[in-house]
Amino acid sequence: MKNTAQPLLEEYQIGNLKLKNRVVMASLTRGRATNVGLVPTPLMARYYAQRASAGLILSEGTWVSSKAIGFINVPGIFTQEQVDGWKLVTKAVHDKGGLIFSQLGHIGSASHPDFFDGELPAGPSAINPQSHSFTPDGFKDTLTPREFTVAEIKQTIQDYKQAAQNAKEAGFDGVEVHAIAGMLIPQFLSPATNQRNDEYGGSIEKRARIVFEILDAIIDVWDSTRVAIKFSPVTFSHVGIVIPDKETIPMFQYILKKLNDYNLAYLHIVGPAEDLTGTAVEVLQDNYFSHFRRHYNGRLMANLGFTQESGNAILQEGIADLVSFGAPFIANPDLPKRFKYNLPLSEGNRDTYYSGGENGYTDYPEAIYDSAVRKD
Ligand SMILES: Cc1cc2nc3c(=O)[nH]c(=O)nc-3n(C[C@H](O)[C@H](O)[C@H](O)COP(=O)(O)O)c2cc1C
Repeated sequence: MKNTAQPLLEEYQIGNLKLKNRVVMASLTRGRATNVGLVPTPLMARYYAQRASAGLILSEGTWVSSKAIGFINVPGIFTQEQVDGWKLVTKAVHDKGGLIFSQLGHIGSASHPDFFDGELPAGPSAINPQSHSFTPDGFKDTLTPREFTVAEIKQTIQDYKQAAQNAKEAGFDGVEVHAIAGMLIPQFLSPATNQRNDEYGGSIEKRARIVFEILDAIIDVWDSTRVAIKFSPVTFSHVGIVIPDKETIPMFQYILKKLNDYNLAYLHIVGPAEDLTGTAVEVLQDNYFSHFRRHYNGRLMANLGFTQESGNAILQEGIADLVSFGAPFIANPDLPKRFKYNLPLSEGNRDTYYSGGENGYTDYPEAIYDSAVRKD
């Protein structure tokens, strides 16, 4: 239905999936898989079901294999137990009329030996990403990783494929590849962490190769209109040495040109968190999402710092097709309803973002509004 006042509240079609609005819940790691098997729990099912009024939910980043881990209490999707745990989540969301994609991730070298019985994690090259890993003993500095062998890269691609297959078995509606700064894929894209001189390093084409091999593997399992990818091309903070450089813009132009042939569910782009003036990507400062719109023919999902007003505006202007909200969904489980009735938003407590348990997770109430006057 057309909603000219608030395009965020319009229905939206992706292939044969009908989203009831264009308010997407972005992936939010919440550290609630507090068990040795990293299995999704009934508490997580309740949390996601509370947010089922989003047009689409993207699950928290989820490990594709035991080698992909690098942050405590984050669930995986590589064991049968985990798949069974996710079934609870997808059922709870579907029972409330929602849709949910699984976000598939691998943290690469930004992990820590504490997750691997003292063994080093692997990365594109033996270069310390100079980042931090949230271990069971708190945040620790990353170390110099082992370099992936080509056989390990091929295995990792198969891990994504298997995880995508598992997501299907678990009842998800699709998958999103987690490729934002800090994760394995940007470590391959960046010359700061990828100095390989084989088919996975060197030129832009070779550094980007893994993106397409992962997508091709997943599209063997899912229709392309159920597969998406999320990039943050201009993230500077908290991600060590994987930051934008003079090849970032040509790199993404190359990636987008190739993605134009993929007919994905959508391309998810995280915006700049800071002023880009004086950086290698300064030219994107005033036309960031329009730049991606210009180079990408498919559905575009915009993210970072959006509000009801700016989200409606970017859709109205035709610069994006969908808008995702991360932090606002933490304390506002009924975000679309709050937009619909112009209700105030609640602020989430950062101390409980990753703390485990119900507190600051499933105990944020829906907004109170006068249901006698307002019918929905
Ligand atoms: C607590 C928290 C956890 C997050 N976890 C993930 C994650 O697992 N995967 C991901 O792609 N992004 C993650 N993000 C980033 C969000 O999806 C989103 O890109 C970011 O918060 C910007 O959107 P916002 O301004 O609407 O919050 C996380 C953000 C927060 C605040």
